[in-house]
Amino acid sequence: MWRVKSLDAILATAEKKSLHRSLGPFQLTMLGIGAIIGTGIFVLTAEAAQKAGPGMIAAFIIAGFVCAVAALCYSEMSSMVPVSGSAYTYSYAVMGEMMAWMVGWALILEYAVAAGAVSVGWSGYVVGLVENAFNIDIPSALVLGPMDGGIVNLPAALIALVVTALLVVGTRESATVNAFLVAVKVAALSLFCVLALPVMKMENFEPFAPLGMAGISAAAASIFFAYVGFDAVSTAAEETKNPQRNMPIGLIGSLGICTIFYILVAMGVIGGVGAQPVMDASGAGLRPGSPELTAACASLADSHVVCSKEALAWTLRQIGWPQIGNLLGLAAGLALPSVILMMMFGQTRIFFVMSRDGLLPAVFSKVHPTFHTPYVITIITGLFVSAFAAFFPVGVLADISNSGTLFAFAMVAIAVMVLRKTDPDRKRPFRTPAVMLVAPLAALGCVYLFFSLSTETKLMFVGWAAIGLVVYFLYGRSRSHVGRGIIDVPELAADAPPGPVPPMPGAPSPTDRRA
Ligand code: ALA
Repeated sequence: MWRVKSLDAILATAEKKSLHRSLGPFQLTMLGIGAIIGTGIFVLTAEAAQKAGPGMIAAFIIAGFVCAVAALCYSEMSSMVPVSGSAYTYSYAVMGEMMAWMVGWALILEYAVAAGAVSVGWSGYVVGLVENAFNIDIPSALVLGPMDGGIVNLPAALIALVVTALLVVGTRESATVNAFLVAVKVAALSLFCVLALPVMKMENFEPFAPLGMAGISAAAASIFFAYVGFDAVSTAAEETKNPQRNMPIGLIGSLGICTIFYILVAMGVIGGVGAQPVMDASGAGLRPGSPELTAACASLADSHVVCSKEALAWTLRQIGWPQIGNLLGLAAGLALPSVILMMMFGQTRIFFVMSRDGLLPAVFSKVHPTFHTPYVITIITGLFVSAFAAFFPVGVLADISNSGTLFAFAMVAIAVMVLRKTDPDRKRPFRTPAVMLVAPLAALGCVYLFFSLSTETKLMFVGWAAIGLVVYFLYGRSRSHVGRGIIDVPELAADAPPGPVPPMPGAPSPTDRRA
């Protein structure tokens, strides 16, 4: 179980694919922003406020900092090993098969559960838009999950299925569509800042941390979700021109731009409408996604941003811009499905690589005869995502997703340090600056955020990891291609399913490449 897949074998794969490199620094940054900005800032801002009050600004900064140091580690790894599979592949080369399996298993949380969270976020905005624009009241039973006071979140389940269908027939977002959607999101957030920042009231920032440092840490652990996605850039490493230079620019550039936006938007929400948490009689903050908060919000008659499922649109309506609030809802409704698409695509790609390595059944990488897509795994993933979206609140899904992501990020940070020691002479086109400071900070930052998650989330993660270990010992360990000495076949099969599979969403199509 400690067997590793040699870095040279992994890199040989990358060289075979060098003809397809077409992404530059600008496209990578756009790809990053396309994957990053989503439900986190549009929806979870309300949850961060419920956990930390105005101190959520500090939470955004802490989570952004942890992501920035993690991104520096990702940059070294992805420029040195520019192949698909991201954290899973790096771990295979450095920490051995069992850890790689655990990372791949955790990435299921990162990608599939996150796709569910973004679907629920999308539903909140679209329902809010329809209700406000047409002045109708859609029954909560059909648009909220059971923990939010409804029965089933039909729009969320539906959008996940629509995205699945698009992925099965091989629809992918062209670079042009991605650029358009990034423009829509950036314009919506900019408009929000322009309208909300000038009406900020400084007294809304008092008390700054009503639930103390524990509240800020808990908010940071949740709002970390808003930054997830920058690692999707690293999964495009094989499609990148001069990855040595461009990957770090794409990763750190997209993260930097999003961090600035997030801090400004958070200031706009706090300053514009206030962000004090709803507390119980004993002065403790009620847990987002809990029936208690739902009940408290029902009696508060829509007067707190923390009760809103569409925090930014709600804020704009409160400060006197109802139509622009609807426009923002429209922007979220248009743009969030592309985040779902990226997350589900990332998931199918990780499953594909794991199945190619023999750790998952070969049927997972079965390709559709007409559409040339890995349809079996896409449909399985889609059904799960849709079920998560139908029955769970956005914050619960986001926190579970974060637990998996934090584990994967910590492993990448450790892998960077280990490789510096075990393979110091390998060419490192990008070297993490002050690695012996930055990499431990990244790993410790992830551990700190992980332990700031709720107890339920941590237990869920432990349960998931335990199931993963059982699956590995019962299935993957004896079938692993590395273990059975099968190197050539999977390496030659490269990182994409056979046939003209859709490349990374948002990347130029093969036709663009030829042009
Ligand atoms: N960062 C992405 C979002 O907030 C996952 O939706």
